[in-house]
Amino acid sequence: MADKFYITTPIYYSNAVPHLGHAYATTLADILARFHRLQNEEVFFLTGTADHGQKIEKKAKEEGITPQELTDKNVASFKDLYEKLEISNDFFIRNSDKKHHWPGAQALWKKLVDTGDIYKGPYEGLYCVGCEKFLTEKELEDGKCPDHNQEPEKVVEENYFFRLSNYTDQLRDIIQNDVIRIYPEHRKNELISFISNDLEDVSFSRPKEKVGWAIPVPNDEAQNMYVWCEELSNYITAIGYGRDEEKFNSLWPADVHIVGKDILRFHAIIWPAMLISAGLLLPKSILATGLIISDGRKMSKTLGNVIDPQELISRYGAEAVRYYFARHVSPFSDSNLTMEGFEEAYTGNLVNGLGNLVARVLKMAETHLDAPTEGPSQEEFPAEYTEALNTFRFNEAYDFVWRKISELDERIARDEPFRVVKENKEKGKEIIAECTKELYLIARLLNPLLPEASKTIKEAILANKKPENLFPRLAEASREGGPRLES
Ligand code: MSP
Repeated sequence: MADKFYITTPIYYSNAVPHLGHAYATTLADILARFHRLQNEEVFFLTGTADHGQKIEKKAKEEGITPQELTDKNVASFKDLYEKLEISNDFFIRNSDKKHHWPGAQALWKKLVDTGDIYKGPYEGLYCVGCEKFLTEKELEDGKCPDHNQEPEKVVEENYFFRLSNYTDQLRDIIQNDVIRIYPEHRKNELISFISNDLEDVSFSRPKEKVGWAIPVPNDEAQNMYVWCEELSNYITAIGYGRDEEKFNSLWPADVHIVGKDILRFHAIIWPAMLISAGLLLPKSILATGLIISDGRKMSKTLGNVIDPQELISRYGAEAVRYYFARHVSPFSDSNLTMEGFEEAYTGNLVNGLGNLVARVLKMAETHLDAPTEGPSQEEFPAEYTEALNTFRFNEAYDFVWRKISELDERIARDEPFRVVKENKEKGKEIIAECTKELYLIARLLNPLLPEASKTIKEAILANKKPENLFPRLAEASREGGPRLES
């Protein structure tokens, strides 16, 4: 049987239309999903949205619509964006989905109750509506949430709690011994130092009158689930937990959860503890990405520094966004996105690098070859390229392809097939055919990295015809009135 590869992104809050940060992890996940599909693995790529919570309830009220209507509208924007970005997800889960998500989320809750890890108790905390979570005093700056610049609400209420404290030692071993492999390594170390203190139990529910737009706690009319069980559980409900055991068993555990570093602790601590409690297998790895920064701060609707991905796509094309994300943004640290950097990468590497080479080779092929060059028969990806993608060093996979691009450029400069063909037709044609074959190999390597360009190049080779404007050169005027990305 073929290997399976199950990859997930976070479920993004659908309180607003997606910003560029929301496209980041999803784009990286897409590259990996495509790469594994090409190796004939049974891939399941999951993304989706978190539609519940106080913030969404509040916003819908302000707009005079229901939370369902608000999230439906925003989810349509997420889907539209993903379509433009060529995101090849196999399913889109929403935690408001009563058919695919609720039964599993409630089944998981019951399982945790059966294990004895859920109990009721009083809760006192500082709640930030912006974060949709309770903050500790330590996390505040001048009494305010640093991300949302607003004071959290003091809250005293009855909650159900999850006995995270039962799992401190086990979790430390799991992270320490790479049972769940954490990328990058420095985040693993941060986790270990965090777990060196005893973990506290966490609030798992909220009174219905506080958060009405949520999944009901089984067997308690008065309480609704609070983020952990209703959001983290998406990774299992989407593949059939509580509904289609066969499918679930064929895909779980996840091979990779991609998350932002700000939600790593939930995924590497709370989630595994829930899974152990429920008797389920643990995910194999977690990639915690840095954040895309604009104006020196995390991009967030509340801070008003978001970059509209649709704007970037309409100006530069979806592939330019994918390219920039995966090659010029490090997944392992925060990266400041600037318009200059973006345009430099576009013009330098896509227009002049790849675009020029394709035009050059196919112009020669079209002019001098009598028949299209056949693509080489299927062969394995080079180890260096595979290893880079398997360890999330996306930029190195692109570097590898761009080295091939330079080598082919150099070969053309050295062998001058355009000159040879005039003196010795057969010899010249032979070199041109070899260059075209090499270009086909480059297109194959580009398949997960720039799927559309890869397809265009292959089709052009098979039709023996130079493609029109693969990456159009930017007109100077294109920048005027454009989004300001630099800090
Ligand atoms: N709903 C939770 C996640 C639950 S997953 C079971 C949530 N949603 S979120 O919309 O606030 O954030 C989702 C993800 O988007 C997080 O991984 C976060 O790190 C990521 N990003 C949000 N802004 C980002 C950037 N500016 N750059 C990169 N990723 C960003 O948290």
